[in-house]
Amino acid sequence: MTQPRNLREYEQRAREILPQAIYDFYVGGAGDEITVRENEQAWAGLRLRPRVLVDVSACQTSTTILGQPVSMPLLTAPCALNALAHPDGELAVARAASAAGVIQVVSTLSSYSVEELASASSGMRWLQLYCYRDRGLTKALVERAEAAGFGALCVTVDVPMPGLRERDIRNGFKVPPHVRAANFEQAIPDVAEGSALLAYVADQFDPSLTWDALDWLRSVTRLPIVVKGILTAEDALLAVQHGVVGIVVSNHGGRQLDSVVSTAEALPEIVAAVEGQAEVYVDGGIRRGTDILKALALGARAVLIGRPYLWALAVNGEAGVAHVLTHLHDDLKLSMALAGCPKLSDVGPRLVRVAAD
Ligand SMILES: Cc1cc2nc3c(=O)[nH]c(=O)nc-3n(C[C@H](O)[C@H](O)[C@H](O)COP(=O)(O)O)c2cc1C
Repeated sequence: MTQPRNLREYEQRAREILPQAIYDFYVGGAGDEITVRENEQAWAGLRLRPRVLVDVSACQTSTTILGQPVSMPLLTAPCALNALAHPDGELAVARAASAAGVIQVVSTLSSYSVEELASASSGMRWLQLYCYRDRGLTKALVERAEAAGFGALCVTVDVPMPGLRERDIRNGFKVPPHVRAANFEQAIPDVAEGSALLAYVADQFDPSLTWDALDWLRSVTRLPIVVKGILTAEDALLAVQHGVVGIVVSNHGGRQLDSVVSTAEALPEIVAAVEGQAEVYVDGGIRRGTDILKALALGARAVLIGRPYLWALAVNGEAGVAHVLTHLHDDLKLSMALAGCPKLSDVGPRLVRVAAD
């Protein structure tokens, strides 16, 4: 079988392979999935203003993220239970990310533990943190991540409770017995009706969380703190005031509140509000090198990809994820060359046409 040529072909192939309930869990979003669609459409709707007769014989994509050198401005987004796609799950993603020289952001609900991941590859990793009602449990996980050499905490703030994921409810989504939330002793229990994962999240995550939680986290860890799930300038400013060093502009891939602003639309106001006091990253619907270029032009330091690496993992394990990362790297370099931007510092706001132009 020929290798998929792009991220869309990986998704098509994954759809043929995966059981319907797992495909639906990965592809789906909340409500009418308006935001799932709009995330991709918003990048596609932006138009580039390329410059010509620039020497683009060598395009440079390396940069730093929180001071850490990386090969390109891209991270793998935290996605729960990668072992649903492939038995090697997050271990395969860790190896592929490490070989590609990018940071892997590992979900709290990873199917391999932080210690297993640390011993599997020497790559760069952040822990995505969900704050549990049980602060002791949350603190213990933070301490384990710190001990295991994780470089930052990425606190997800857009899940006070799970979004309305009707596909999962309809499918009665269960976590198969061979897949575990490996950071915890307790298994995700089955439920009589609806989605086991949504019920677990509603039961365990703390819906009363406020900005004070960031101050508490800073008191229990030395790790730098990034927040994920910011969509407004107001919240971006509050995040900076609470000492975060990075902000992920994200709507959770359209899986939480449906019909929120797309991330491409939210990004500029957040970049403007933050005024360089924190690094700003963005995720949601990034599928092409041109999407990365547009995100950087709007002021993001880097992008994250979620579903695309899950599809690649399902299709071809570690090699699939490695291929997707190489493909996006090549696509970014080509896009930079054709836009007349040999260096990332050449990618500025004038590269995209904004509606008012
Ligand atoms: C199957 C799946 C599981 C996810 N699990 C988590 C998670 O555990 N923690 C988290 O912060 N975000 C989670 N996300 C959101 C992603 O980190 C990311 O924000 C989103 O997938 C980006 O959009 P994209 O899939 O269009 O690239 C998940 C997304 C998907 C598709």
